Amino acid sequence: MPGTGNDMILDIFTYPHPVLRKISVPVDRVDDEIRELAANMLETMYAAKGVGLAAPQIGKNLRMLVMDPGSGTDEQCPKIVINPELELTGASIVSEQEGCLSVPMGYRADVQRSSCVNLKYLDVNGNTCEEILEGFPAIIIQHENDHLDGKLFIDKMSHLRRTLYDSKVKKWLKQQN
Ligand code: NI
Repeated sequence: MPGTGNDMILDIFTYPHPVLRKISVPVDRVDDEIRELAANMLETMYAAKGVGLAAPQIGKNLRMLVMDPGSGTDEQCPKIVINPELELTGASIVSEQEGCLSVPMGYRADVQRSSCVNLKYLDVNGNTCEEILEGFPAIIIQHENDHLDGKLFIDKMSHLRRTLYDSKVKKWLKQQN
């Protein structure tokens, strides 16, 4: 569980790694292995100063994610979400300068999101939960849930901006090698 001090920081996979493009499979049983994975994902998210992290980002194609809209503040409220089902119920809003730990070079862009989400999921004890998320938490859950379907926010950009970004990533990857 979070806070036991045994949590590990995992490697975060980045675009264009194929693990980020797969459709993830539901978690069939919420057991100790899943709880340990969730704790490690939270540790990894906080270490990377992120507000959310989905399992494909650490190389596991499972439908689970962690999030904390208060990450980096005094008011942390970690949330572990397993097998999420989202119903978008709000107005269309602009998520300003959205970023992603898996999108290289700290790239950010405005993204259209729903202002409100009805969320159904399993918690870390395997109990079914239902809640309504609004504002920033609603944006985070939509972003993380997209990861479970192999989608990244850069897929929502215009063709021109995407082409420019892809060529920058190509150059950047060459410099890494
Ligand atoms: Ni992301």
